Amino acid sequence: MSLLEQVIIKGSTKEKPIWLMRQAGRYLPEFREIREKNQNFIQLCLNEKLVPEITLQPLKRFNIDAAIIFSDILMLPYGIGQKVEFIKNFGPRLGELKEVNFNKVNESSFSERLLPVYNSMKLISKELENKNKSLIGFVGAPWTILVYMLNMQSPKKQLNNSLSDIESNKTIIKTIIKYLKVHIKNQIKNGANIIQLFDSWAGLANKKFIGEMVYEPNAELVEFIKSFDIPAICFPRETPDYLEFVKEVNPSVISLDYNVNIKKIVKNIKVPTQGNLDPNLLLSGKETLKKETLIILDTFKDHPHIFNLGHGVLPQTNPNMVDYLVKMVKNY
Ligand code: CP3
Repeated sequence: MSLLEQVIIKGSTKEKPIWLMRQAGRYLPEFREIREKNQNFIQLCLNEKLVPEITLQPLKRFNIDAAIIFSDILMLPYGIGQKVEFIKNFGPRLGELKEVNFNKVNESSFSERLLPVYNSMKLISKELENKNKSLIGFVGAPWTILVYMLNMQSPKKQLNNSLSDIESNKTIIKTIIKYLKVHIKNQIKNGANIIQLFDSWAGLANKKFIGEMVYEPNAELVEFIKSFDIPAICFPRETPDYLEFVKEVNPSVISLDYNVNIKKIVKNIKVPTQGNLDPNLLLSGKETLKKETLIILDTFKDHPHIFNLGHGVLPQTNPNMVDYLVKMVKNY
């Protein structure tokens, strides 16, 4: 059993488990080298030779306890036939949702389009056999997927107001959930030991519809994942009330963003936690990094905890700082 599974199931381990969101990515020169030669990001995510290689790159460098499949949450809109592109220095750009012909897509055509992702998972899972490391599969949570499908670009850039049409959004959310379940099930069948739900834009959901758009969809998927005896980690970034989220959704692990006041929350949280170091600290000096890391480790000393960042590794990060962080957590 991997350290992540031990901490989730048994509640404690000798060594602190650690992995990092976006651990495979642009801060690694060996990734940038591959990326340079593969300009189409979606095609790279569908490359059965390169996906296992990229996924395992951070494990070759650092003593981390999990691999996360190199893929993207936007493989879901791609799978149902929405146009998805990644533009340099801009980020994702999607086509109009009304151009998707929903009569042409079904569960088997969806699985067929994403088959290379599942084949890659099978290969990675074989590589990790007998190594006591978890393979994390993931999806975007329904609300966050809806935000990208309707907004057609990152809401960081601009947010259009179609997100407030709750009745029509509820219909789309149902379709999203249907295909997310297919995507989750396929990942589990091909070796994922844990599933993380990224609700990166949970913080954008209005209080009036947070139940329908964030809590209920996450809860439905958590229950679905648990029905396979697989843990579900939820990351509802910037949700205003993490305790309420845990009560409503009941995830196996709650991943905390870097704005969460952990000292305030730790006593009242009933499930294992993950997080929540500010990724910007990896850009600062070792002393500051050490001080802040120790605060997190001390705070969760008596609480089952998976060390991680409060959001993804930034592209400007020096890999030596990641190594320093991993060693510090392991020597704690
Ligand atoms: O964590 C990992 O190492 C696994 C791989 C992974 C990627 N994306 C690869 C990626 C994971 C788990 C994701 C999730 C993802 N994708 C999220 C949720 C997490 C979060 O960051 O909030 C979101 C919102 C997306 C959508 C997405 N994908 C955006 C907004 C972007 C552009 C961002 C940017 O920094 O340019 C991507 C592209 C992307 N996904 C990259 C990687 C390594 C960068 C690709 C590149 O240009 O080389």
